[in-house]
Amino acid sequence: MTADDRLRAGCGRSLSLYAPQNRNPPATMQRWGARTIEADVYGAGGAVTAVEHEVAALLGKPAAVFMPTGTMAQQIALRIHAERRDSRTVAFHPLCHLERHEERAYEHLHGLVGQTVGEEHRLIDVADLESVAQPLAALVLELPQRMIGAQLPRWDELVAQTEWARARGAARHLDGARLWEAQPFYERPHAQIADLFDTVYVSFYKGLGGIGGCVLAGPEDVIELARVWRIRHGGEVFALWPYAVDALYGLRIELPLMAQYWRQAKELAAELTVLTGVGIAPDPPQTPIFNVILDRAPEAVRRARSQLAATDDVWLFDRMWPTDPPARTRIEVAVGSQLGHFSSGEIAALIGRLRELSVDQADR
Ligand SMILES: Cc1ncc(COP(=O)(O)O)c(C=O)c1O
Repeated sequence: MTADDRLRAGCGRSLSLYAPQNRNPPATMQRWGARTIEADVYGAGGAVTAVEHEVAALLGKPAAVFMPTGTMAQQIALRIHAERRDSRTVAFHPLCHLERHEERAYEHLHGLVGQTVGEEHRLIDVADLESVAQPLAALVLELPQRMIGAQLPRWDELVAQTEWARARGAARHLDGARLWEAQPFYERPHAQIADLFDTVYVSFYKGLGGIGGCVLAGPEDVIELARVWRIRHGGEVFALWPYAVDALYGLRIELPLMAQYWRQAKELAAELTVLTGVGIAPDPPQTPIFNVILDRAPEAVRRARSQLAATDDVWLFDRMWPTDPPARTRIEVAVGSQLGHFSSGEIAALIGRLRELSVDQADR
């Protein structure tokens, strides 16, 4: 454990959706409370089958399979798509999870070839796709594109991109880790968004606040094969029901709140943009998630976060990314029920202080 980890764990409150203060085990078990819980056996039956059925219906897909991680689910989906086509190439955004956070597992485990499309700092567009010359097994789109402030393409652009892939015989796969957060922007049912894709992965532990796990949804035959691949990946956990029970809780309690969280995110962003040296991306936010951009270097912001944790007992954020130009820092804010732990105006005051405290060592 680093000194920062200790500070993070010890703070009374955190604005980070993923911090232990907002995810503690007793609170999780308490919320399962009175619900009748039925166990699965190796991922079959009980709460696991219930959540598979519920998500398949919500996404308008014929079948769905529960997986321990999105990392596993997406590799499996892409492997299956590739085996049915003449290409091992999968196209995706340069900052997508498969490319950035999975140690190139798609390549090592499945012999797939990754083709990045477009540029890091912006969304993929149809013109980027037109420049892809080789046949593709699949096009992966991430809605929203998390690492650039959870941005979303317009609906007509999204339709055009998925149509481009369909017309070329490439499978369309949705990284919908945060599809729940994206849906209010499109003002369309989840199923209408999912209908643009052959397979869809959705997560239960981001905006829905669960302890982990996800679902891969799609055609019956693809999902049947995905169950076989789940065994091959070592993902056939003996009991997945705690994850599934918490997923059902998230679907009941958190999912209906997404539009409200988005509204709160827009209000909070508007309060923050008036602060000196603070920018918002995208402005206004398109989901409950957005980035705060400080005109300070990442190392200075990191130190200021620790200082505020020590003096104010608040852990402000988890994720931060350098920006171009490098003297600025991107912080992720994801609005959820944790916002209720802060009084009106308090977050803007804390971000203002974070910036003031973010002074370079050299300036001291
Ligand atoms: C956009 C996106 N895709 C996929 C994943 C993988 O999910 P998991 O952590 O369940 O493997 C994540 C996890 O953070 C993610 O943010």
